[in-house]
Parts: sequence; C-alpha cells; structure tokens
Amino acid sequence: MRPRVYITRTIPPEALARIKEVCEVKVWDEEDVPVPYEVLEQEITEVDGLYSLLTDRIDAALLAKAQKLKVVSNMAVGFNNIDLAAATQRGIMVTNTPGVLTETTADLTFALLLATARRLVESVDFLRQGKWKTWSPMLLTGQDVYGATLGIIGMGRIGEGVAKRAKGFDMRVLYYNRRRKPEVEKELGVTYVDMDTLLKESDFVCIMTPYTPETHNLIGARELSLMKKTAVLINTARGGIVNEAALYQALQKGEIWAAGLDVFEQEPVALDHPLLSLPNVVALPHIGSASEKTRKTMANLAAENLLTALEGKTPPNLVNR
Ligand code: DGY
Repeated sequence: MRPRVYITRTIPPEALARIKEVCEVKVWDEEDVPVPYEVLEQEITEVDGLYSLLTDRIDAALLAKAQKLKVVSNMAVGFNNIDLAAATQRGIMVTNTPGVLTETTADLTFALLLATARRLVESVDFLRQGKWKTWSPMLLTGQDVYGATLGIIGMGRIGEGVAKRAKGFDMRVLYYNRRRKPEVEKELGVTYVDMDTLLKESDFVCIMTPYTPETHNLIGARELSLMKKTAVLINTARGGIVNEAALYQALQKGEIWAAGLDVFEQEPVALDHPLLSLPNVVALPHIGSASEKTRKTMANLAAENLLTALEGKTPPNLVNR
C-alpha cells in the first residue's frame, strides 16, 4: 500500500513529483489561501504524512485526530506553528528545512536593514508622489550603516550570515545568544554581550532568534527604552518576539528611530495595523527566504524529510529526536 500524504498548498513541481512517485497525494491547491483548520481536521485523520507550511496551525487537538500520521514535514526552518510536545508524545516525527535558506534570509535581513536605515521606501514614494522639488541638505537623511554597531539577538546560522555581511560594512558586531559561541567569535570577530548591553550600544538590533514561549515578547517597552534614539530595529524572525504595541509607542515617541519588519504577530498584517501608519516602519510580507532557488530547495528538502520518514528511517532534519 502506498503511503497517503496531504500537502497543504501547491508546492514547486519537482518536489511534488518526487512525493507522487511513492505516495498517494492530495493537495490543498487554492492559490494563496491557507487550508482551513476544519479541512485539515478531516484530512489528517487518514494520512501517513503531512507536508505543511508555517501558515498551518498544527496543534495538539489536530494531532489527536490523526490515526496513522508518522510525520509532519514543515517547509520552513521555523516550526513554532507545530505543537512539538504533542507530536512527540504521539510518536509523530516533525521535520524542518534548516541550512538551505540561511544565505537568502541573511541577504533579505541586510537589505531590510539598509532600506530602513536609508529610508528607501519613503524616498521612492516621495519621488513618485511628485514631492521632489530640489536637492536639499537634509532631505530624506538616514543613518549610516558603514562603521556602525550591529547587535544580533540569536546567533544561529542566519545570525552568522548577517554578521558576515556586516563585516563587509566594517561594522562592530555584538551578539547575544543562549549559548556563548567562542568559535564564531574567533571566526567572525564578533563580541558576546548581555542583552541590555547589546540594546544600549547597538545602532542596529537584528532579531534572529527562534520563536518559543521563552522568546515571546522578548523585546518589549523596557528593552526598547534601552535602545539609542537613533537605533533601528530589524525583525526577520517571527512577529511575536517583539511586543508590537510597545514598538509602536517607541517609534511614535521617538525612543527609537525606525524599524524594518518582515514578520508580524498576525500574518498577513491588517492594513489598519498602527505600525503600518508610521513612515519610519519598513514592512515586508514575510519574504526572508523568498528567492526562487531557495524556495525550490526548501520544497525538495521537505519532500526528502517526508519520504525518508515514511520509509521508516530517520529523516535528515528531525527536530524531535
Ligand atoms: C522559515 O523558514 O521559518 C522562514 O520564516 C520562511 O521564510
């Protein structure tokens, strides 16, 4: 009997073809609409494998409906959408796609940092709206990136990728991480500091940590108040790590200078969200890993994880060992 698999969105053809070679496949193929929870509740009952995205809430109640499920393969490095403890308790393997999106996400993080520091979005709008009357000494002036201090919260693979890029801009790089990383300090010339020191001394603070109960609202009013008035906050990790109401207040009151956000607590972010009303916020629709090559590679890796688990072997990127 071929294993049965449910795929929660249309995925790149190569990955789909690989899965179809071995499995009976059903796909939620409504373009750009996540599979409704109630549909997933039905579909999960009979399948051996679930190929999921970060938009799918896979909680304990859902997993309880699964009768034969062996694996949930998430096409993302983050897996905060899945109740890992509940999956482990039921003997269901959970996999993710680390490594393959590191450089693409580090590129986007640095692009967002530059765009926010130098007010690129505001400047484009300014020009297109016909507001450009003349060159002026202080028109659309931003913050320098070259030679500034960058603080990275969460020195995983993507954090290291951002630190490498920062070195090309002659930045002083500070980092805070659960575990100190002497090998990375030596290789990249970065300095470990506590969170408060990082917040006080950095011109740019990049959030690069996974989203867990411990990192929920890690950056709130107190943390923002420690930052420089000229500082820029960049978040390409997960929205819930920053308290958005506190961030709005800090930006509005000028406690910090600007924010570049690729992620939000609720996605898609509502168009009337207060943060979107601020000119000093550059907001993106969660495109950190969105290069054609990387998304195809992520899709293939998620397929490999799924198929390996369904063969009864340990998949390359098992997160609940
Ligand atoms: C991930 O893989 O977790 C990213 O957020 C997707 O870009």
